Amino acid sequence: MDITLTRPDDWHLHLRDGAQMAAVLPFTARRFARAVVMPNLDPPLTTVAAVRAYRERILAALPAGMRFEPLMTLYLTDTTAPDEIRRARADGCIVGAKLYPAGATTHSAAGVRDIGRVLPALAAMEEVGLPLQVHAEATDPEVDVFDRERAFIERVLAPLHERFPALPLVLEHVTTREGVAFVRGAGGRVGATITAHHLLLNRNALFAGGLRPHHHCLPVLKRETHRRALLEAAVSGDPRFFLGTDSAPHPRGAKESGCGCAGIFTAHAALELYAEAFESVGALERLEAFAAFHGADFYGLARNTGTVTLAREGWTVPEDYPFGDARVVALRAGATVAWRLLAVEADPA
Ligand code: NCD
Ligand code: ZN
Repeated sequence: MDITLTRPDDWHLHLRDGAQMAAVLPFTARRFARAVVMPNLDPPLTTVAAVRAYRERILAALPAGMRFEPLMTLYLTDTTAPDEIRRARADGCIVGAKLYPAGATTHSAAGVRDIGRVLPALAAMEEVGLPLQVHAEATDPEVDVFDRERAFIERVLAPLHERFPALPLVLEHVTTREGVAFVRGAGGRVGATITAHHLLLNRNALFAGGLRPHHHCLPVLKRETHRRALLEAAVSGDPRFFLGTDSAPHPRGAKESGCGCAGIFTAHAALELYAEAFESVGALERLEAFAAFHGADFYGLARNTGTVTLAREGWTVPEDYPFGDARVVALRAGATVAWRLLAVEADPA
């Protein structure tokens, strides 16, 4: 069996930089026409000039003949000036600004410490209609790690949405039923990305037979009731939910360590893994809108016109892939993915 879809977009992606980026970029650029590229490099991309330079490096790293458009994001800090927001809006390739609570995840140390200090930047974003992408996790160490999304929504995100009702908001990589409920209940332009791994795995995967560092990501995997709520939202046809892989490659040694870092690499089989998730509930016919229409519509961008074709044909994921001078272990390493990428027709030029 084959399925052909409009060529999709990935609305949340980590591409890294340099030789690491060159190693992982082709996986995404083959499947997806566009991707929203996260700004959490080291140092983070806190100025429009730095974002632009990164975009040029991505384009330069694209294999010849591959058509792929990076959609860029600015990294918000306590000191982002409203003028920088206006510059970002005026720059045609920046689609939003990313709010990382300081300390919440990889390379977030320079993120937002005090939400009170970013209010001028957020007001400017609301004024010019620049979407805010949010890593929605409380960083208060008192909050249980599995409750961090819910706590952040209650303490920060819901009040922020009330204060800036016209600010377009994306709850990135939503992982809980409370997150899904927030998006459904919010008025205005509020959406959420959903990863393939949060659709396929619950938190048992972190401890299956022993500690599994390659299943560790942030927000961390949650219990089965939450996975089911995410799957239900993804296949519901609700346009506020769209595909965002959060594919986040790290060198094997940084994951298989006494303090393994967070991030799951899924770009090698991203669309194929979503197809598995949708198929598991008999909803393959809903995959196209989730993967190719809802995000473009949310961001006010044209839908793609190319196509991708997947075949229902299992293949074995390699034990690891090259990653600069290291290796990266992908989701399902050494095991089977049920769908295979068969063909891609890029949009006509
Ligand atoms: C991401 C990374 O490694 O950059 N890690 C992750 O677990 N998702 C950062 C992020 O999106 O939180
Ligand atoms: Zn991410």
